[in-house]
Amino acid sequence: MKRYDIAVIPGDGIGQEVVPAAIEVLEAAAEIHGGLAFNWTHFPWNCEYYLEHGRMMPEDGIATLRGFDQIFLGAVGMPGLVADHISLWGLLIKIRREMQQSINVRPAKLLRGLQSPLREPKDFDLIVVRENSEGEYSEIGGRIHSGEDQMAIQNAVFTRKATERAMRYAFELAQTRRNHVTSATKSNGISHSMPFWDDVFQAVKADYPATASSSIHIDALAAFFVMKPHQFDVIVASNLFGDILTDLGGAIMGSIGIAPAANLNVERQYPSMFEPVHGSAPDIAGRGISNPVGQIWTGKMMLDFMGYPEIGGLILNAIEAALSDGVKTADLGGQATTREMTDAILRHLRKQS
Ligand SMILES: NC(=O)c1ccc[n+]([C@@H]2O[C@H](COP(=O)([O-])OP(=O)(O)OC[C@H]3O[C@@H](n4cnc5c(N)ncnc54)[C@H](O)[C@@H]3O)[C@@H](O)[C@H]2O)c1
Repeated sequence: MKRYDIAVIPGDGIGQEVVPAAIEVLEAAAEIHGGLAFNWTHFPWNCEYYLEHGRMMPEDGIATLRGFDQIFLGAVGMPGLVADHISLWGLLIKIRREMQQSINVRPAKLLRGLQSPLREPKDFDLIVVRENSEGEYSEIGGRIHSGEDQMAIQNAVFTRKATERAMRYAFELAQTRRNHVTSATKSNGISHSMPFWDDVFQAVKADYPATASSSIHIDALAAFFVMKPHQFDVIVASNLFGDILTDLGGAIMGSIGIAPAANLNVERQYPSMFEPVHGSAPDIAGRGISNPVGQIWTGKMMLDFMGYPEIGGLILNAIEAALSDGVKTADLGGQATTREMTDAILRHLRKQS
């Protein structure tokens, strides 16, 4: 029996609802596998913790997390209680940075049983590889002066090491799929960092002559996500561009509530962190109607990363089977509760065992 120690941070809002649902599904998956078990250790780090302690996690929080195999996180943020830049930078982004989770992987796929908001979409199945450690989300900058002289500067940082790492990951991933990489650029408008991004892409792609590639400006790429998402396989993007594109990826699937994500420490020196694309959804939190699919699919990505893709595949099948039965939460136009959606997925998962 192989045991894995997983740190669980449900976080805020609907994170408290969808994380327990996903853990139930992962437990059922482990049971089906027979040789795999989880030790779940819960951490209460969220905005309420901040109000009580003045910080989002204890001082030794990162050191504590280092002892785990992986981190399973819901969502962070309660803008009515704590400013978003404090909650996100104090927990989520801190973990991503300190654990060197430099690659963020976010798939978008036309799921069986789901109506995409696109009219007659062709079968799309794409993955966005987002650089996750620098780019537009840098801490370099500041504010000076006050009143009408007030100004703010935010510097974007692009290093060759991190840019190349994301691009190589994208090419390696494409080789296991349909073998095409698209680079999201904006070198017509951003005159330093994006031409640099393009140069690195040219250099990296030379090492993968068998893989087809293209480079598309982010504004056009966003439009193509709507017009012809089926044409894409793997897309590599900077931190900000990848962040925006993947919300769109969730939207064309049918809801941001189903979009999964993984923050990977590809060197496997530190734990990776698995958290869905969506946030804490304060507008629906506490009503038991949040969609657990994004968190459950995120659990499938954790299994894939840990070397259990066959069990992960059963989870995705179960999600699609439950949706095909018409079990849908309100964000997908249905009436199912979080509990009912989870039960339907569990039922289909156990049927496959
Ligand atoms: N990874 C994260 O922790 C993360 C990501 C994005 C936003 N946030 C934070 O979450 C808070 C709310 O942000 P937001 O409103 O911009 O984005 P959000 O993703 O929380 O919600 C956007 C919309 O989608 C709906 N939605 C999201 N997930 C859903 C689900 N699983 N089921 C049903 N409906 C769902 C919400 O009800 C809302 O209408 C903010 O504090 C923000 O900073 C955190």
